[in-house]
Amino acid sequence: MRISVLNGPNLNLLGDREPEVYGRVSLAEVEAATRERARALGVECAWTQTNHEGELVEAIQGLRQSTDGALINAAAFTHTSLAVRDAVLAVRVPFVEVHLSNIFAREPERRRSLLADVAVGVVAGFGADSYRLGLEGLVAYLASRRGR
Ligand code: DQA
Repeated sequence: MRISVLNGPNLNLLGDREPEVYGRVSLAEVEAATRERARALGVECAWTQTNHEGELVEAIQGLRQSTDGALINAAAFTHTSLAVRDAVLAVRVPFVEVHLSNIFAREPERRRSLLADVAVGVVAGFGADSYRLGLEGLVAYLASRRGR
């Protein structure tokens, strides 16, 4: 099984950026922990981060050829980008939306996700652990679909 993890803008600054909201773990550390869990689950894991909306759209378009499922933290584009929503609708690759913070407990403009209703599920609020929980949920979902 192959999965891809796509990270949107400013997530490259994790660890430094608003640590009271996002914690002190860097994106490289989140990546290492996610890869380790993926390895234990026997899953191949590709990892991307971009600050650019068009690059995120292209990465999503590329999922069709390369992956069984995805974890997507589209960061601020979650709340704003119809282009990102259109891309996930176009490729029809199952994905779990992940956020470090609980977006539903934050400012009103962050409580709306343009992706949640087309995701397999949403994991938000567990800090870096959201990625591991999202990975486990996604892998279980994909495995159960294969078994059908
Ligand atoms: C985030 C939440 C978004 O609202 C924010 O713009 C981010 C990070 C999170 O992981 O908690 O950049 O996606």
